[in-house]
Amino acid sequence: MPSPPIPNVDFASKNTIVGRTSEDVQKYGESGTAYIGKVVMSSGENPVLGRKVLMDVAKPHVVLICGKRGAGKSFSLGVVIEEFAKLSPELKRRVSVIVIDMVGIFWTLKVPSRGNEKELLEWGLTPESTPVKILVPKGKMDFYKEKQIPVDDALTLRCGELDVTEWMALFRYTWHDTEAILLGRVIEQLKEQLGMRFGIEEIIHSIDQDEESDKLTKQALKNRMEMAQGWGLLEKEGTKMKDIAEAGKITVIDVSAYRQAIGMEGTKDIIVGLLGKKLFEERMLYRKEEEIRLMKGLGRESSMPIVWLMIDEAHMFMPKDEPNIALNVLLEWVRVGRQPGLSLILATQRPNKLHPDAISQCDLFISHRMTAQDDIMAVSQLRPSYMHGDFDKLYNEMPKGKGYALLLDDNAESIYTIKMRPRTSWDGGVTASAFTK
Ligand SMILES: Nc1ncnc2c1ncn2[C@@H]1O[C@H](COP(=O)(O)OP(=O)(O)O)[C@@H](O)[C@H]1O
Ligand SMILES: [Mg+2]
Repeated sequence: MPSPPIPNVDFASKNTIVGRTSEDVQKYGESGTAYIGKVVMSSGENPVLGRKVLMDVAKPHVVLICGKRGAGKSFSLGVVIEEFAKLSPELKRRVSVIVIDMVGIFWTLKVPSRGNEKELLEWGLTPESTPVKILVPKGKMDFYKEKQIPVDDALTLRCGELDVTEWMALFRYTWHDTEAILLGRVIEQLKEQLGMRFGIEEIIHSIDQDEESDKLTKQALKNRMEMAQGWGLLEKEGTKMKDIAEAGKITVIDVSAYRQAIGMEGTKDIIVGLLGKKLFEERMLYRKEEEIRLMKGLGRESSMPIVWLMIDEAHMFMPKDEPNIALNVLLEWVRVGRQPGLSLILATQRPNKLHPDAISQCDLFISHRMTAQDDIMAVSQLRPSYMHGDFDKLYNEMPKGKGYALLLDDNAESIYTIKMRPRTSWDGGVTASAFTK
């Protein structure tokens, strides 16, 4: 058990606030925090629980959630999502939450939890539905309808937003492929002629018109484009960023239908890559707008909210030693995203497969149990001066039940063992079982 930390406590309420410096705790108290769990106060499998743990969500952070498979990472992400829905209206107005759902489990947030009322009461909570907007790729609407998953809207990407390297990543082309050369030429021409306003149809037409490439190359690229048309993801218009990053809204982008589809693996990367790129650009612009308002003595407000992007199975988008079209964009978020107001919550069971910068740059580290040595080694680079003892030892001493986690807070330089709070909305991650009861 980590030695009892010097608590970052709001003395009015005696809760533990993480992700905030003591000056900010004094200034803001408990407003703009998420109630994620309680501090573990004793050892053993059924430890005494103490103060509530409140996580700052008013300022930008990079949060890393780790733990072996089934340890409760997605559950914990769900807890944080629920908390965003409970923020005060004036804070909510400035924040938007986007969740990348790899498994299709977060739509159940819409449903209040059942069966854990007594446990919730002990935590001072009651079952509640969490309003979330579920977006699914347009071409996969039927897939979700068949499964009777409540979908709110379709997601499409704007063709004109993709640059040549992104198209190449989608089709797994390199510059050695003649198709890539043709693709580069066609996209460049279309952007010159039409700006952003073209779809796959226009691309196919331009391929037909091209006079420099041979017939085989043209046919091969056309086949790829026709295949992409079938995905129903890329369109002339595309979903507007303001409909994805909406103030006060929690938007879940369910990409689970693309996860296993053969030849479509790259589509989830493009969704995250493009979204990350657009949000970064737009927040940079709006940050300037906010600055000007502040200079004029007006309040900090802009028409674009600050963004919390949550990515489950983050090693799939930010791998350590493989290329990925979303990687550079997300590294940008991790390294400098705080300035324009971009926060990330990354969850992974394989920190050893995650880009090391995503580990070293996090300022809040929440780790459920880990047992694989290479994963423990990967997070050991975090070992801050305020941490006594090894990760190995801490994981060993952690209670084995669900929801326990180690929490490292770089802002207050504190370390805790915590238990996550139970879910107030339906937990969609309940492990699949062959038993029906
Ligand atoms: N804090 C918790 N309290 C109760 N059950 C939990 C808790 N955390 C996880 N679980 C349960 O454990 C299982 C695995 O959790 P999940 O979050 O899907 O793990 P991971 O994402 O780490 O693989 C699920 O059935 C989930 O309902
Ligand atoms: Mg999970």
